[in-house]
Amino acid sequence: MRHDAHHDHSSPGHGALGHGAHGHGTHGGVMHAPPADVGAAYTRAREAAQPALGGKVVAVDLEAREMDWEFVPGKRTRAWGYNGQVPGPVLVANVGDVLEVRLTNSLSEPTTIHWHGLELPAPMDGTDMVQHPIVPGETFTYRFALPTAGTFWYHPHSNEVVQLERGLYGALIVRGPDEPELDAERVLVLDDVALDRHGQIKPPGKWIEKHDGRQGGTLLVNGRAAPELTMAAGQVERWRIVNAASARYVRLSLGGRPFVMLGTDGGLLTAPVTVTEVLLTPADRVDIAVGAFADGETLQVESLKYDRMTVARSKTERFATLRVGPAAPSRAVIPERLRHIEPLVTGPVEATREVHLGFKLSLKRGVDFVVNKEAHHRDQPVRVGELQVWDLVNDTMMDHPFHLHGFFFQVVEVNGQPPGFLSWEDTINVPPKGRVRIAWMPDDRPGEWMYHCHILEHHESGMMGHFAVVR
Ligand code: C2O
Ligand code: CU
Ligand code: CU
Repeated sequence: MRHDAHHDHSSPGHGALGHGAHGHGTHGGVMHAPPADVGAAYTRAREAAQPALGGKVVAVDLEAREMDWEFVPGKRTRAWGYNGQVPGPVLVANVGDVLEVRLTNSLSEPTTIHWHGLELPAPMDGTDMVQHPIVPGETFTYRFALPTAGTFWYHPHSNEVVQLERGLYGALIVRGPDEPELDAERVLVLDDVALDRHGQIKPPGKWIEKHDGRQGGTLLVNGRAAPELTMAAGQVERWRIVNAASARYVRLSLGGRPFVMLGTDGGLLTAPVTVTEVLLTPADRVDIAVGAFADGETLQVESLKYDRMTVARSKTERFATLRVGPAAPSRAVIPERLRHIEPLVTGPVEATREVHLGFKLSLKRGVDFVVNKEAHHRDQPVRVGELQVWDLVNDTMMDHPFHLHGFFFQVVEVNGQPPGFLSWEDTINVPPKGRVRIAWMPDDRPGEWMYHCHILEHHESGMMGHFAVVR
């Protein structure tokens, strides 16, 4: 709704975290509004969503509302959450199921839910380009099939800098038929929040925050500051990790101990990869195998110093403490091969387009974050079945996490070098002055789609592109 040309900034109920300085009727690019036939397209998509043979409909009610939440134990904060919790409930389904979510908006402002990473039809994508935002008091149903296994997440696509910061986000797990069998599984949704001295969430800040994106000083795992996790010695667990922070890059380390990457945004890798750290940009996910450790060990789940060239400096910070308790038997097996991924690009190719991430001075706002010199850039359509090879070019001196809605891509090159492994991604870091080549194939899901920087302040400021997938 930040982008809604009809939005009335003087309307009541926005509270202390009211909106920043601009809508975007005043500069180039796209006005956020759904197409005229939005109702018919939605009804078609809803009716077409049927479970595969042996699948089921997973029906969930979500209510977005304000509540008290203890990010820091003993300190009550006015927060926003789904079903009274931060994060919202972990939604779990299998490949071939249909997810049906009835979302009731009990907030004081419009909202939507975007299903980050899911390959769904455009009318279910949850942006204000494909639906009318859900006004307070209204209920809206999302219904779509789940074709791909992986760790996904859901969050509003309205006034994101406020709504996500206050706690509206949750994890979504889609299980496949051939998952590795480990001893236990847990979901860790990482975030940070900026609290004032009364323990309340600070309103959006001034220029440093607009430039860097907000990095709150209180680090959260599943909505709590500095939790203690426990696991049994001798066991190996699968951790599904989501970075839900507005702007924080998490260079994840488990006290320097090795762990095994099993999957990324779009599900399993072809083979496990042993590492001692992994970089999670905002919106990134990773599935890792953790352990085995010995009884009595204590490890820090931490984010190592990562300089993403912001005004504010970075340091190593702790998310959680892991305590290893008495041993339990293990039946964990990590197969040598996890799955087959067909490369989209094998020989030399030319880029079919360039997406330049940049910024531009603006008299009104100081600086706009832009794509191809335009805030909310209107990009060329892409045709179903035509291979897309995009060069993401970072014209700035800071990192930007690029996110494509609705379709997974493969990374072909980062600054001219092939990546270490083949994977399906929906979010990728574009380093300062860097060039990342991605490839993706638009399948038959025509409609309005978008890509954007997932630093929420940059997204809001216009570092995004809008395009149609056409037949
Ligand atoms: Cu998770 Cu348009 O984003
Ligand atoms: Cu836009
Ligand atoms: Cu950015």
